[in-house]
Amino acid sequence: MQFIDLAAQYQHLKTKIDARIQTVLNHGKYIMGPEVQELEKNLAEYVGVKHAITCANGTDALTLAMMVLGIKEGDAVFCPTFTFFATAEVIAYEGATPVFVDSDEATFNICPIDLEKRIQATIAEGKLTPKAIIAVDLFGLPANYPEIQKIADKYNLKLVEDAAQGFGGSIDGKRAGSFGDIATTSFFPAKPLGCYGDGGAVFTNNDEFAELLKSYRVHGKGKDKYDNVRIGMNSRLDTIQAAILLEKLAEFPTELINRNKAAANYEKMLSDKHKTPKPPTGYVSSWAQYTLVDENRNAVMAEYKKQGIPTVIYYAKCMHQQTVFNGFGYKDIDFPIASKLSSKVFSLPMHGYLITEYLNPEVDIFK
Ligand SMILES: Cc1ncc(COP(=O)(O)O)c(C=O)c1O
Repeated sequence: MQFIDLAAQYQHLKTKIDARIQTVLNHGKYIMGPEVQELEKNLAEYVGVKHAITCANGTDALTLAMMVLGIKEGDAVFCPTFTFFATAEVIAYEGATPVFVDSDEATFNICPIDLEKRIQATIAEGKLTPKAIIAVDLFGLPANYPEIQKIADKYNLKLVEDAAQGFGGSIDGKRAGSFGDIATTSFFPAKPLGCYGDGGAVFTNNDEFAELLKSYRVHGKGKDKYDNVRIGMNSRLDTIQAAILLEKLAEFPTELINRNKAAANYEKMLSDKHKTPKPPTGYVSSWAQYTLVDENRNAVMAEYKKQGIPTVIYYAKCMHQQTVFNGFGYKDIDFPIASKLSSKVFSLPMHGYLITEYLNPEVDIFK
């Protein structure tokens, strides 16, 4: 079986996706064609924000957010240590300093209590200017935005939601991509909403940010791309990827139901075997990954392999453990929860097309 079965999804949507691609081949507007605007409208509607601005990938989406917020050398941006590298990378790329924060043990997401401690310590030290927080919707579960937003307001910090893995999740009906001042996502093929290459988007309700984003993604354009009013980048979503995403977005609500059915079934079958993920009340996960915690991770993964069930570790290394950030002098003891998680988590197959056995609560596939 596949860890993520993109071929099954393509077979299901083949006729519609093929027709969409053919339409682009016929009109030939490969860059910023009409499908890009159509997708941005549909994305904004789904997420529940005023503006969705697509770009080349989820890392660029975060970089664009950093540019809009004016993050620069001397600034501190707080982010979880237990995340994918891009979250921290984009902060350092702007010359600012990522300040890592420990995780909440139950949700794997940034811990609001530790976040406030790190902000206070940074202020007390007086070397960096606290500017922003990047919270991550790890494995599809929205971070604790009600608490994080309060902290952002208290210390006058901007809040960025890294929803690269979170698209489709929600808190009390408010969808991922709509939290904070600005949010980003990734359309990397394996993401809950993925395209057939690289892609990303930025979401905001702020009209000024939206105008800046549209300029930054096309070489800092003014009235057109040959009128350049600021330093930007070349980061557009290809029209063909937008065409594919239009069909995938239409099917997304059904896939999300299937992912949640599979998660509920995993919970039923596995909660007495491993520590299973439990979204807090009011939270919906898009289950980018179904991630378990087990003291005997290696033995357990070997056992699943014998049964023909693939497993993957996300993530074996936290940000504070990455070679490139050695200079910060962090130790595992500074992040006890995240360090423990990175040594004990592993993920099971999860996608919208798991075989029916995975969706049938009467069948125990792990017997
Ligand atoms: C949390 C997180 N942020 C950012 C990214 C970057 O997205 P992309 O691979 O599209 O650049 C990813 C992708 O894996 C991610 O998981």
